[in-house]
Amino acid sequence: MPAVKKKNMTEDLKERGRKHITPALVFHTDIEVRKAYGIHVEGSDGKTYMDFSSGLATVNIGHCPPEVLEAAKRQMDSLVHSGCIFRYSSEVELAERLSRITPGSIDMFFFSNSGAEAVEGAVKLARYATGRQGVISFIGGFHGRTMGALSITTSAARYRQGFHPLVPCVYHAPYPYCFRCHMGLERTTCATDCLEYLERILRYQITPEEVACMVIEPVLGEGGYIVPPADFIQKIRDLCSKHGILLIADEVQSGFGRTGKWFASEHFGLEPDIIVMAKGIASGFPLSAFGASAALMSKWSPGAHGTTFGGNPVSCAAAVATIDKIEKDRLLENAAAMGGYAISRLLEIKNRNKGIGDVRGLGLMIGVEFIKNDGSADKERLESVMNRCLDNGLVIIECGIDKNIARIMPPMIVTRQEIDKALSIFEEAVR
Ligand SMILES: Cc1ncc(COP(=O)(O)O)c(C=O)c1O
Repeated sequence: MPAVKKKNMTEDLKERGRKHITPALVFHTDIEVRKAYGIHVEGSDGKTYMDFSSGLATVNIGHCPPEVLEAAKRQMDSLVHSGCIFRYSSEVELAERLSRITPGSIDMFFFSNSGAEAVEGAVKLARYATGRQGVISFIGGFHGRTMGALSITTSAARYRQGFHPLVPCVYHAPYPYCFRCHMGLERTTCATDCLEYLERILRYQITPEEVACMVIEPVLGEGGYIVPPADFIQKIRDLCSKHGILLIADEVQSGFGRTGKWFASEHFGLEPDIIVMAKGIASGFPLSAFGASAALMSKWSPGAHGTTFGGNPVSCAAAVATIDKIEKDRLLENAAAMGGYAISRLLEIKNRNKGIGDVRGLGLMIGVEFIKNDGSADKERLESVMNRCLDNGLVIIECGIDKNIARIMPPMIVTRQEIDKALSIFEEAVR
């Protein structure tokens, strides 16, 4: 069931959708969009909403940014599709640009269409390049819905329900969720228990020599907007390096500026072997990518992987324009500054209001966790907060296995005044 109550959709559209759009898709709201621009969405009800969901962390520089639309239109005048038959410049230009902003020695890319597809490609590369089959991912991680990506996804059993058996040779280690620890430990006294658990997997279940890769979200997205301790990420890096295991950073949600840096890995000094990106890369045009060093990517023989639509010329042009805009308007700096400001205001709101257990995040990837008096998850409270926010023109969505964590993730163009306005609506709803 959707977390936010249905409203604002004309009955006609709703009925037509019900007949012909699969019920598997869950819409977070029923706002029928007339027009979207910047952080705003105009509904057919005549109301204007502030979109603090960024179209699921995707329109990182706002809805319909004019510079990106212009670049896409220019590209559409010359070539819309290649299908790997013809060569075209927007894809090469994008790869060159990405090689300058991705961490470490990553300088070669494979473009595809969705986050899940890029995750699949990254894991395939790891298996192919190492000749090993084992994959380790982290509990709470979300990596997509296709069978391979789903097999490493554990943000909720309901996503996997009905699809077993999944891809074999996948093992799951705990992700440090220190606010409500899986193992019931305290942040102050636990340093490495998650890591020890992972090491036990490598002793009891699969030898390190059989593991191709570990896949981790440097900041957990769908699983709860959780920022891990910095030394945990570094220790994972060390463990992978020690055993020749490739480390894949899934930055589909945390990437492209959302955390105030191009990629969240940078906050931890992490240099992954393979990085996966999607969502914000092209401001809403369908595009994803995974990147690795040329040395690693070149282990693939021609034809080992492929695509018809991946690296679409229009999407690539939109991505180059997105990078231009982020650099020209210094939006990484804005995301870092506005994120810091929003967190400080949310901490004040937490102090004034019972029921908010934790406020955490990096840049504009902020989680606000609602709990009951006994410390358990308070999904109902968040649901009513989100509904109230929607009534007052603010779109916020949830995450976490218990759906009790609000994601505060406005586009990176957000101003201090807009954060003030949104958080006033939020606090009024919390009260
Ligand atoms: C971290 C992460 N990886 C992968 C995916 C899958 O992306 P897509 O829905 O484009 O397949 C998502 C989507 O939310 C995600 O957050």
